[in-house]
Amino acid sequence: MVGTLQAGRAGSRAWGMRTLVRDLLRSSAPADVIHAAGWVRTRRDSKAFSFLEINDGSCLGNLQVIADTGIPGSADLQKMGTGASVAVEGRLVASQGGQQAWEVQASSIRLLGESPEDFPLQKKGHTAEFLRGIAHLRPRTNLYGAMFRVRSRMSQAVHRFFAERGFYHIHTPIITASDCEGAGEMFRVTTLDPTSGKSGSFADDFFRKAAHLTVSGQLEGETFACALGNIYTFGPTFRAENSNTSRHAAEFWMIEPEMAFCDLQGDMDLAEEMVKYLVREALDHQDGDLSVFEKFVDQGLRGRLEFVAENPFERVSYTDAVSILQGSGKSFEYPVEYGLNLQSEHERWLTEEYFKKPTTVFNYPKEIKPFYMRLNDDDRTVTAMDLLVPGIGEIVGGSQREERLDVLLANMERHGLALEDYGWYVDTRKYGSVPHAGFGMGFERLLMFVTGMQNIRDVIPFARTPGHCEF
Ligand code: 4AD
Ligand code: MG
Repeated sequence: MVGTLQAGRAGSRAWGMRTLVRDLLRSSAPADVIHAAGWVRTRRDSKAFSFLEINDGSCLGNLQVIADTGIPGSADLQKMGTGASVAVEGRLVASQGGQQAWEVQASSIRLLGESPEDFPLQKKGHTAEFLRGIAHLRPRTNLYGAMFRVRSRMSQAVHRFFAERGFYHIHTPIITASDCEGAGEMFRVTTLDPTSGKSGSFADDFFRKAAHLTVSGQLEGETFACALGNIYTFGPTFRAENSNTSRHAAEFWMIEPEMAFCDLQGDMDLAEEMVKYLVREALDHQDGDLSVFEKFVDQGLRGRLEFVAENPFERVSYTDAVSILQGSGKSFEYPVEYGLNLQSEHERWLTEEYFKKPTTVFNYPKEIKPFYMRLNDDDRTVTAMDLLVPGIGEIVGGSQREERLDVLLANMERHGLALEDYGWYVDTRKYGSVPHAGFGMGFERLLMFVTGMQNIRDVIPFARTPGHCEF
């Protein structure tokens, strides 16, 4: 377990085992007194001493502690059951047992917080569903600890990816009066009291108009791309989609880059580069945590991720994808027909069975896509692109944007968007319009891909889905 623990040198604050043990390994004298704190995973007693496995959440590995009967604090040993929190002082010594290289020979031990018998994580092997009901405790398990460490690492890597490429980070609003996707799946934001019995009007409402939680930061992001060049947003987005699937949440995080002077090719290139970068990040820096997913969730995980990080993706037009699906001889639940949306079963078949790799589908019929996508010369399709991955389907959706003022205005009319609401957006086309493109990557979908987790509820700390807003 050496190299995966967290501990701090003696002091008023436990620093985290991981950092300390890394330092100790570099020095060849692991003899300092260390100060460690964590939650008890297991305890075994013998007459003269107790073995405790403690974990402080900073990494997968536990720290093994030997506490002799009689050291300060040992009177409380019987209260240090699974889930209890303890602090230990002692020396790191070479371990006699085969499981770990080092263990702490405690010179003192202190009970910080007891954990009574009804602690729900006493036993192992709980179902994902049970653990969702205790989402406030599940990060203390190996699997969910790994999950949320990977989530943190991936979030930091997203910012690094863009920083390395000169993108500016823009904070777009969470409350908005625009509907980017035009799908009518917005949560209303209001200060009117639905329980008062009076039906209020917008004149009485906080913003004096209809306001919603954003479904996408794209429209606001575009205005900044049309000023700063390459930008991205990374924030929570909300959709009142009443679909109870394993891939949809009502609150999810989206990463949305937007690039000025960029076309569809450049957009697809960036999306692929980003998926590869993030997969590589997980492989190189979260190997211990990935091993947990491999053990409990998906045996072929690391092999598949290596393949994705190292090999080119596929690209296919929507029209060709439809022909391939129609010629597949497979009977799908939903029809495959030019002009219909691809369903997740179609997307998965294309990536899992046909191409056997991540695949970007581009140039979709204009009728099934939002108003802002650029019309192609064929007058039938728009420069939309969806990046699909095996096991999930769509993880990225994007497009080149319609930069021609007259075409955009015609699209808006066709989609029933009022100019007085979107005049600010139209201004970017009126004053120095430029070709530009961007996409949205669903952060949770990416995490599902990287960890192999099958349900979006298990990659979000506190998931919000229809009928569920606990915690
Ligand atoms: O394809 P979508 O709807 O695209 C947009 O919102 C564009 N405005 C993005 C852009 O061009 N800037 O959503 C983008 C991605 C999807 O590919 C999917 O990964 C994720 O967001 N997504 C969801 N993730 C979890 N739960 C949901 N309900 C999601 N809806 C979309
Ligand atoms: Mg989409």
